[in-house]
Amino acid sequence: MARNSSMDRQNQSGAGGDGAFEFFDRHPVANNMFEDVLTSLAMSPKRLAPKYFYNARGSELFEAITKLPEYYVTRTEQSLIAERGLEIGAQIPAGVCVVEYGGGSSEKLRALLGVLSPSAYVPIDISRDYLLQQARALHSDFPSLSVYPTCADFSAPVELPEPVDDIPKLAFFPGSSIGNFNRASAQIFLGQVARAVGPGGQMVIGVDRRKDPAVLEAAYNDSQGVTAAFNRNVLSHINTELGATFDVSSFRHEARYDVADGRIDMFLISTRDQRVRIGEHSFDIAENEAIHTESSFKYHVDEFVELAGRAGFDCELTLSDDDEYFSIYLLRARSATD
Ligand code: AVI
Repeated sequence: MARNSSMDRQNQSGAGGDGAFEFFDRHPVANNMFEDVLTSLAMSPKRLAPKYFYNARGSELFEAITKLPEYYVTRTEQSLIAERGLEIGAQIPAGVCVVEYGGGSSEKLRALLGVLSPSAYVPIDISRDYLLQQARALHSDFPSLSVYPTCADFSAPVELPEPVDDIPKLAFFPGSSIGNFNRASAQIFLGQVARAVGPGGQMVIGVDRRKDPAVLEAAYNDSQGVTAAFNRNVLSHINTELGATFDVSSFRHEARYDVADGRIDMFLISTRDQRVRIGEHSFDIAENEAIHTESSFKYHVDEFVELAGRAGFDCELTLSDDDEYFSIYLLRARSATD
């Protein structure tokens, strides 16, 4: 694909050895929020997609969730990388290109860079401004690393930047973001990643585990009500963006763990009969009616290794915390002859 005319070049690699900085725009198709929200509220049961959590306020609230005592996910993954990252680093060749699915702001990436000697970094995100801002900050902290921010929607296959064509790849997908795909979509996504890194390419992925329902329900029903505010923020976001008339205070947050399916479901429950308008359209919501806003799938180790296997990856290493709450996997994409 031709590079975009808005290509941004700074510190191009040269005799001085500085890493390159180049922006690649794969022009993700803008989502039609209005159509999407109308369609999902017309479903039975009603739904709203979790991507609408993340306006500026939603991102702040998610950041606050990651620091909650009950939300062990982020903390546990960070400690695993800090304490055992060298075991991962030992299996990854120097000069690798790290391809991060998501914006790349995190301490996790910086911790991972501490145990690897990569030559290039490709953060992929749909949010252009956020992506560029984070990528520039990273490049200024690691000036010898070539950074190629790529604006794309990674729910579909992404063409990686041409300068990394001949460099071995390591995909990075932390935070159990894979849990927000249903199991079939998770396999499709991992298959796309396996093709992107190519035969012999690797992936580091953090995945939350099935566990005591009480621990999981506490993590998604925290005592300070931050997750409740995060959940309700989806309605404020829709009010702001689409001029909808949700009375945000008349919805309560609920998170339930489905033990059989290994899945947290989050809902907003209407506390009264109400009519919500969005443009010319209106929706009746009955007292106690639920709007589904997010699922977060959890995996036993064997279950995840099997899923990754169906997607074309072999598991080379699994790191888990002592409580067995969370695991980080190092995967390797099989070649056709494996
Ligand atoms: C982003 N994602 C991995 C979080 C999760 O745990 O599924 C989102 C979240 N929802 C409520 N709390 C955190």
